[in-house]
Amino acid sequence: MSRITIKDVAREADVSISTVSHVINDTRFVDPVTKQHVQDALKKLGYRPNNVARSLRSGVTKTIGLIVPDASNLFFAEIARKIENYGFQQGYSVILGNSDNDPAKEIQYIHTLLAKSVDGVIFISAGAELRNFKQFADSNIPVVVADRVVPVELADVVLVDNEQGGYDATRCLIELGHTLIGCITGPNDLSPSMQRLDGYKRALQEAGIPFRSELVVTGDFQIQGGCDAMNQLLQAPERPDAVFVCNDMMAVGAMTSARNAGLAIPADLSIIGFDDIELASAVSPTLTTIAQPIDEMARYATDLLIQRLSGRRKDANQRIILKTTLIERASTARRKP
Ligand code: RIB
Repeated sequence: MSRITIKDVAREADVSISTVSHVINDTRFVDPVTKQHVQDALKKLGYRPNNVARSLRSGVTKTIGLIVPDASNLFFAEIARKIENYGFQQGYSVILGNSDNDPAKEIQYIHTLLAKSVDGVIFISAGAELRNFKQFADSNIPVVVADRVVPVELADVVLVDNEQGGYDATRCLIELGHTLIGCITGPNDLSPSMQRLDGYKRALQEAGIPFRSELVVTGDFQIQGGCDAMNQLLQAPERPDAVFVCNDMMAVGAMTSARNAGLAIPADLSIIGFDDIELASAVSPTLTTIAQPIDEMARYATDLLIQRLSGRRKDANQRIILKTTLIERASTARRKP
């Protein structure tokens, strides 16, 4: 069945093509009787706008691409939903690509989004694969990099102060009297994880607490990774009495492992996470964590991109570093004497 065109609607309603176009796009006054007549014809024929034709004419698709490393991680699910909301409010559709932490899959999504002629992209990297990012640079479409540093000067950037967040998490445990403090990091090639570990080290050093490498275990930012890393920490010759976990998904897994090992949280072991995903306030005990400003990150990333798409800003030279906030809940307590 061939596609219904504006011409078909004009014939059905016995009006000019321009009148139909003005009714569809609301671009000038059309008398109510004629307007209703056209609307009845649109409905009767089942007219659907031809966005491909429209974008070929205008050169824009009013579509934003968003690539995230792991759509099952609630941090990315929450930031994706907010980006979609902010984009929709400003007339843009969002196409989500999940790279599954895989640079090879990430490059496929970059090609797909470019092939679909998205107007711009918000990009959260799966890892330090600079070559992937250069695809955007070669395509000249505006890009905003969020959450993870991509070492190029070709995009606006929206990050949080991860080092300060790691420092604040560790400082919270030190002020509760803990000195045997473990750390479960995310993947070693990701900037947020390494920056949080730097903050952990700075807080220990400032308090005169020796850094002990056997109390630092590498995780993968996922629940099972947190389980496995905590099991490894609990095998240490001297188990920690507090642990800073570099994201909430791993912290939830770490709590499960600690409980399975017969430890009460926080009486026997204090745990603090990072992100403040919705789950953090739903687990028992509720998770003390470092809150990332997820809504603010989403709003900045979307606004910076749309500023460039609408021509309100030409150069990609914005670098936004947002602050995190300590949220004290029930998974941390003063060290037992
Ligand atoms: O939970 C996923 C983690 O990876 C978050 O801390 C976020 O910062 C991202 O880098």
